[in-house]
Amino acid sequence: MIDYYTIERIQSAAQIVEVVSDFLTLRKRGVNYVGLCPFHDDKTPSFYVSPAKNICKCFSCGEGGAPLHFVMKIEQLSYTDALKYLAKKYGIEVKETEATDEEKQAQGDRESMFILNSYAQKVFSANLFENQEGKTIGLSYFRERGFRDDIIKKFQLGYCLEEKDAFTKQALLSGYKLAYLEKTGLTIVGENNYQTDRFRGRVMFPVHTLSGKIVAFGGRILKNEKTAKYVNSPESEIYHKSAELYGIYFARQAIVKQDRCFLVEGYTDVISMHQAGIENVVASSGTALTQGQIRMIHRLTNNVTVLYDGDSAGIKAAVRGIDLLLEAGLNIKIVLLPEGEDPDSFARKQNATDFNLFIKENEVDFVRFKANLLMQEAGNDPVKKAKTVTEIVDTIALIPEEIIRLVYIKECSLITGVDEGTLVRAIAKKRQTAMSTGAPQARSGDISRESQLPPEDISTFELAKPSSLDDYESSILRFIVRYGEIDMANIKEEEEIEDIPKGEPKKEPPLLVIEYIMEELKQDDLKFSNPIYQQIMEEAFARSKNPDFHAENYFRNHLDPIISKLAIDLSTDKYVESKIHSRYKQIPKEEKKLFDLVPYVVINYKNALLQNRMDEINTFIREAERNGDAEQIAEKMKELVVCEQKKKMIAPLLRERIITKL
Ligand code: CTP
Ligand code: MN
Repeated sequence: MIDYYTIERIQSAAQIVEVVSDFLTLRKRGVNYVGLCPFHDDKTPSFYVSPAKNICKCFSCGEGGAPLHFVMKIEQLSYTDALKYLAKKYGIEVKETEATDEEKQAQGDRESMFILNSYAQKVFSANLFENQEGKTIGLSYFRERGFRDDIIKKFQLGYCLEEKDAFTKQALLSGYKLAYLEKTGLTIVGENNYQTDRFRGRVMFPVHTLSGKIVAFGGRILKNEKTAKYVNSPESEIYHKSAELYGIYFARQAIVKQDRCFLVEGYTDVISMHQAGIENVVASSGTALTQGQIRMIHRLTNNVTVLYDGDSAGIKAAVRGIDLLLEAGLNIKIVLLPEGEDPDSFARKQNATDFNLFIKENEVDFVRFKANLLMQEAGNDPVKKAKTVTEIVDTIALIPEEIIRLVYIKECSLITGVDEGTLVRAIAKKRQTAMSTGAPQARSGDISRESQLPPEDISTFELAKPSSLDDYESSILRFIVRYGEIDMANIKEEEEIEDIPKGEPKKEPPLLVIEYIMEELKQDDLKFSNPIYQQIMEEAFARSKNPDFHAENYFRNHLDPIISKLAIDLSTDKYVESKIHSRYKQIPKEEKKLFDLVPYVVINYKNALLQNRMDEINTFIREAERNGDAEQIAEKMKELVVCEQKKKMIAPLLRERIITKL
């Protein structure tokens, strides 16, 4: 592990212009630099680099971040590897220290589980190549399947001995704790502390995260086919099956390079395709895809090709779950393999060129595929046909891009014989109801891209009027991220400072921006409706006890990419009040005005919440009036009056305060 001090040194040495320049050509524009965005197909330079803020950002696709994040993204590196990359570039020595007892404690269970899994992988691999039983049973199995030794080693395959607790005994002898053996699921602990190896007598497939850590194992039975073919590690603090994709660690570079990801079902499909020379492939491990898995793919590419067995079960599996991919805005193609083949068996019969050729000739657009399949199934039955059209409408309605929807509408009109206009209307209606029930919605933390135009200097900010609750919340969040650690009670105007007699500065008790906001929300028992905002606020509050805490740096470099991206957006985008904006085009030094601005955004937020609540109550009352429930109406009326009183109380604060001060 890299110590905190070294991380600090690396982060302060890394200059965004220098780091980005290693990957693309930059031209100076004003105080910034611009270039073609490396993360999307950029026709005109939309990628801005700000030396002042030490960040980069694409104003078209939204990608960007601090130097560390840029490196992680463009090189597809883990956090630690990106740090090492930058350390090398800036000649900083990285000592990966053995953690002290205290640090070990702090790293906690998760780290211990990773370490144990890594140890287990080494033991299982050693069994395969060095142990007699492992060689005759495990290795020969893999070789009979046609796996080459280099591929077996690359995927770190292994073998767990048949003896009931051979692995557990070995691990305990090497000093690993039973608690972690149990937590990772490597050992099953029964009654009277009876210990068995979960994977005994199985060949082992380690499951790696995107950054290469082992979170789980799959073990395949060899002889006795009565038990489950595969046994997998149980869910644990480090393993959530639905969040991992088998093979992603070995595939990520190739996925970015080819700008496409092949999706298959099983461990052996991934491995055989690699062996055939096709490396941009991951497996969903026999279950339906989840949002988390899709997001992981989406970060690397927009194009997914699903490869499935040619039998009808394979087709059914393919059609299921793919709607989620469409909803995420991915382009999906589907390839059906010849009858009786799965990607594993098929790859073993081809080289990469032939396999790729087969894919090219047989891949079909998913929506077209689904429409054709459903229409075939419906035959001439008008009822079934009508149902099919509804299903197709539902599928197309999921696609976020309007242009792409229109293309599909045209095609599906041909396939189904329903005229385009009817399909357009049906899809529009479907989208509308889906919106109002909140089905497909912008993911929390997403900031609308249309609103982001490159201003002259991305480090200046402008004010814009909040219109939804989320806008109010994010304008508060913006103050937390930019100024969270600032003591707003003791900010002095520059002119004022000169007036103050030397040695006699008037001191108010300190009040940090984050403290003020936390306190204000707590008073009214309020929580941000966006859980990510809430998390950021709580984290800022917890960290603010540390005198070195600098909110903007902290969140911009946050390990969670959603948070770091949000922090960057918040420190570069437009926000705040148009009322103010129209009067004062240039707000002089926002941070000098925190004592006014922060209470102002908070009170505005509270006001908006009150208004929302009143609207709700009014709607309720109107409903109740129709049903004639007098008691309920009276109760709601009372609540309405309370809201109105509160609103009256804060009304003067809303208007006067800022406008007179600024
Ligand atoms: N799977 C699982 N648990 C099972 C069965 C299957 O986790 N009991 C997952 C595995 O990731 C497996 C995938 O589903 O790789 C596909 O299952 P299957 O097609 O049955 O296995 P194959 O990968 O084809 O394995 P093999 O070729 O060795 O039979
Ligand atoms: Mn198989």
